[in-house]
Amino acid sequence: MVSIAVPLLNMKLHRLPRHPPLSSLGNDFRSTTSQGVSELKLCGEEFVTKLLDRRWTLLNPNTTIHQIKLSTMLHGNGLLGNISFSSDTHPSLGHGTADNCNQDPSFYVVRDDLLHPLVNGNKARKLDGLLPLVEDHSVTDVVSCGGCQSAHAAAVAVSCAERGLKSHLLLRGERPEILTGYNLISTLYGNVKYVPRSLYAKREEMLTRHADLVAGNSGSVVWFNDLLETSFTTQTSGKPNLVQIDAHMNADSHPRKVAIINEGAADAVGLLGMIRLVQYLSQNHLFGKERTLKIVVDAGTGTTAVGLGLGALCLGLSWEVTGVMLADTVDGYRKKEKCLISDFKHCTAFHHIDHVLKGMDGGIVHWVERDHPRKFGNVKKGEVEACQQIAQQTGILVDPIYTLAAWELATLLSQEEAKGGAKVVMLHTGGTLGMFGLAQRYKSYFHAVKDGLLNFDYLDGVGFEQKTNLPLLGICELIHRQLGLKMG
Ligand SMILES: Cc1ncc(COP(=O)(O)O)c(C=O)c1O
Repeated sequence: MVSIAVPLLNMKLHRLPRHPPLSSLGNDFRSTTSQGVSELKLCGEEFVTKLLDRRWTLLNPNTTIHQIKLSTMLHGNGLLGNISFSSDTHPSLGHGTADNCNQDPSFYVVRDDLLHPLVNGNKARKLDGLLPLVEDHSVTDVVSCGGCQSAHAAAVAVSCAERGLKSHLLLRGERPEILTGYNLISTLYGNVKYVPRSLYAKREEMLTRHADLVAGNSGSVVWFNDLLETSFTTQTSGKPNLVQIDAHMNADSHPRKVAIINEGAADAVGLLGMIRLVQYLSQNHLFGKERTLKIVVDAGTGTTAVGLGLGALCLGLSWEVTGVMLADTVDGYRKKEKCLISDFKHCTAFHHIDHVLKGMDGGIVHWVERDHPRKFGNVKKGEVEACQQIAQQTGILVDPIYTLAAWELATLLSQEEAKGGAKVVMLHTGGTLGMFGLAQRYKSYFHAVKDGLLNFDYLDGVGFEQKTNLPLLGICELIHRQLGLKMG
């Protein structure tokens, strides 16, 4: 049976009940305890400055920002209805940028997908604060794990090789006959071992065992969060510890020191780079500190979203972070969020965070369902074509598993923005190489795109970019109109 995908614009944004959003700090909370909040804000800024005074993997936190403008096409079917996208690669930002009033809907895209050709944007951010700790602690080997097409494992493999470290990646399941995408990169850069699902289910045990094996009799093993905690008690400035780095250079003649990174770097230490990104984006010449923003990001473990939320919280920004849930239930994400915040507080001893969280009942991320929920990793009909449309119209590649979900939500929210809502910013987390693994796994969906954009063949010279006065609408509405039916 052929199923018609429910179009984006007919989709309801299923907001899950949540606690007051971060932006409400600027209203109720601030009005009742304004002195307390400004104190906390100062405290937070001071804390962030101190927290970020460290060595980083990325030379600077800079990223590229594009603006995506939405308009309507005469025709259009498929997942994105009759919406056409175009990209402004030099949008005006900073002071004096008027928020959208009576203009075509648009949203910003933070192009973290451009940070590295092989390392996903959000992985580069997670490893940003983490890898210098590896060097400071004379680590020789890194052990981590992930799914068969794990972007995290590939990021660890590439980043370690770039620093002369050995990486050991445990990937779930059987080795594919032909390697491609992330598992190909992991294999080229690191030492990969495929682990049966039953063993992989006990991740902690599996990682510890493998790390012990790598360390051998004379080596030692450490978990990354422990390194983070130590860094707060021993690190005094952003300067490298040269003595320890020298020791690391001669690692072959020394016992091995093995560090374990959790699956997806879903640890408090992975949050640092995200906080650095928020501080960068909140500079006056970019988004500034005063604007109300809606930040949209796709969530696997949810660590990226929580990092953004924490950054905004500590800097006192009115940024509401929305995480599109892809791999778990809302309860799962809330639990993960609480856990990360608690670990973060424990590692950094930032207890003021409790005061701020009190007004928000503990929630800093607005978790929402994807428009078409599915078992994690599945692709639905029409999604590859939607990615193709976006790529052809904007030069930006999104993938059906992760970033398409954020793109869809940003598209939807930007239409609210056009009616006076907050400006929408999507963090593009990368994921380009994921397309190769998907093409291997979902052959039939990729057959459909090989001859080009089938959806637009019937335009018959109307012109793909031709704009109309039609409101933005989705395929169901379009079909109903053409059939003369009333929308239900
Ligand atoms: C492209 C992309 N976006 C988002 C995520 C999920 O990030 P997080 O686990 O921090 O939620 C991943 C994880 O692999 C990813 O590859």
